[in-house]
Amino acid sequence: MQFKSQFELNWSNDSISKHFQNENSFNLIIQQDQIPIGLLIGHYIFQDIKLIEFEILHIALLPNYRNQGYGYKLLIELEKHLKIKEKTINIFLETGSANKFAIKLYEKLGYKIYNERKNYYGSKSINSPLSQDAILFVKSLNAIS
Ligand SMILES: CC(C)(COP(=O)(O)OP(=O)(O)OC[C@H]1O[C@@H](n2cnc3c(N)ncnc32)[C@H](O)[C@@H]1OP(=O)(O)O)[C@@H](O)C(=O)NCCC(=O)NCCS
Repeated sequence: MQFKSQFELNWSNDSISKHFQNENSFNLIIQQDQIPIGLLIGHYIFQDIKLIEFEILHIALLPNYRNQGYGYKLLIELEKHLKIKEKTINIFLETGSANKFAIKLYEKLGYKIYNERKNYYGSKSINSPLSQDAILFVKSLNAIS
């Protein structure tokens, strides 16, 4: 599936279609000239009357559209959507320790590291020959702030 390689989405086709059918999933796509150039995939992991917990499972821009503010826009758009429900919101995500651009983006938006998993990712790629730690981030926001 071209969609998978373009957005570096390392999931099986079955997992992708199950995700899009799941009622707890929420996804954002940025298009230019009706072509998807950016994607955020996530799901609600918990909701009650006071709290929403949401996990971002993947965010990616096509290579030619990176470092132009679109990743930032996708994350702000997600926050706007979640804030509509006027609850306390925790947004979780995870990335590899070598993904410096992603880490810069999350820190710029106020995401905080709450855990690390040492050597979580194996070394399958020639571009990242060493194993990487997983860095776990959370951003907490109050919907009425
Ligand atoms: C990580 C990714 C989603 C960032 O999205 P983006 O649209 O490129 O990021 P933005 O243009 O919104 O940049 C926001 C901030 O991130 C940092 N950043 C992003 N790309 C950068 C680059 N090439 N060089 C330096 N800083 C960069 C900067 O701090 C930037 O803010 P600034 O311009 O005010 O300094 C994008 O690079 C991507 O698709 N990467 C491949 C897939 C991936 O690794 N996804 C993350 C999985 S966890």
